[in-house]
Amino acid sequence: MSRIIVVSNRTPGKGPTAGGLAVALRKTLAEREGFWFGWSGKLVEHPSEKARFEDIDGLSVAQIDLTRDDHHAYYAGFSNSILWPSFHLRLDLATIEAHWYEGYRGVNAQFARALLPLLKPDDLIWVHDYHLIPLASELRALGVRNRIGFYLHIPFPTLDALYAIPHHQELMRDLSRYDLVGMQAQRDVTAFTEFAEHQAPSNLSGDPLQTVDFSRTEVASFPIGSDPDAFAKLAVSPAATKMIKRMDRVMGVQKLVLGVDRLDYSKGLPQRVEAYEKLLANDSRFRRNVHMLQVAPPSRDTIKEYREVSDALDAMCGRVMGRFAEPDWSPLTYVKRAYGQASLAGLYRLAKVGLVTPLRDGMNLVAHEYVGSQDPKDPGVLVLSRFAGAAEIFDTAILVNPFDTDETAEALRMALDMPLEERIERWQALMNAARRHNVEDWSKSFIERLAPSTAPDGTTRDILYLASVA
Ligand code: G6P
Repeated sequence: MSRIIVVSNRTPGKGPTAGGLAVALRKTLAEREGFWFGWSGKLVEHPSEKARFEDIDGLSVAQIDLTRDDHHAYYAGFSNSILWPSFHLRLDLATIEAHWYEGYRGVNAQFARALLPLLKPDDLIWVHDYHLIPLASELRALGVRNRIGFYLHIPFPTLDALYAIPHHQELMRDLSRYDLVGMQAQRDVTAFTEFAEHQAPSNLSGDPLQTVDFSRTEVASFPIGSDPDAFAKLAVSPAATKMIKRMDRVMGVQKLVLGVDRLDYSKGLPQRVEAYEKLLANDSRFRRNVHMLQVAPPSRDTIKEYREVSDALDAMCGRVMGRFAEPDWSPLTYVKRAYGQASLAGLYRLAKVGLVTPLRDGMNLVAHEYVGSQDPKDPGVLVLSRFAGAAEIFDTAILVNPFDTDETAEALRMALDMPLEERIERWQALMNAARRHNVEDWSKSFIERLAPSTAPDGTTRDILYLASVA
């Protein structure tokens, strides 16, 4: 069986905070003697060209260091000030400094040079996310002929947003160097197909260099999931119960409305608090009887737009507190800190409403984890943004347009008033969907598609190219 080499900007960390992706891929890597390759988290003046191997909780991880300048251009610059906002359709929050592209490409080339000596001819290489779009091109330029797959964890942009990205044509050509490109949702494959079809007129210019040829790249949606049964167990574990007890002491009769998100403008946090404010303003029944908890660990805070959304959220929470709090009751708690999975599972289980309302999101695993953690006899209600990839899977959630805070406020009211029978019915359908889309099957199905498969008679299987241009 071929080894699997997983490549991503960040490599999995130690301890219980490891995300679902790391847990799922850890198993696969152990079975296939593969390793994980990425940035070490260290910035040094003269990085070695050779990767260092480390054993992280039984997982083999190879890492390289970067220079401060390269990292800035690659990570805070091109990846998170250009690609992230554009792919999330927030061109208003993009900082277009085209020179960052050099650092972005340079780091991808550095990754490729360090990875090259570690590769065996039949290794399958699986590259993750927007930081590393050019990696296959850089590896191919060094002579690598292995099968290489790419998975985009964030949404694929619309044409206009794509065209606002400096060097977008080169980036799309880079995507065409992969054998398989996986996306989160059908919506993303449709947007990609529009790009691929839009290429056709430029072929008429007669300049083949202008053409991006996807005829050898398979593009398909592989919606990622979590491990809902593991969350079901975690939600009744001692660590989760400890968190539930801690909360019970202060919650009394109040119903908990919970949000858990990285502090990112794509998550729609100020809009969410505004919707909650409208719920309290519209219906005095809920005052003193609900409490909103927003957990929002800080993220990418060297970038101005992230600091600004943090300030906007502070102001919004302060406004709601000033308007509705009383000496012995506060309408919300806002925590800028990360919690381990077990504590989160406890919070999910306690929450009567899981409020997951990003303005745009690749998938959103909080939605999956919330569903997995519910008490089957008394489940909470998922209020979910239409613009999260998860909305394609969870059609029995209450789906909202997160830009419309009146609609979200009404969804909150419905969720808080929903009778037990309806909650159970909706949750069972959600849990079935979460199980159908679990993360282990996700990784297996991607790897199966990436592996060169041969039919019993020795011929190579025909691949259906979902989006291809001649
Ligand atoms: C999103 C991206 C990931 C990224 C994560 C955390 O989920 O798709 O690639 O690792 O955010 O962001 P950070 O910038 O802290 O790595």
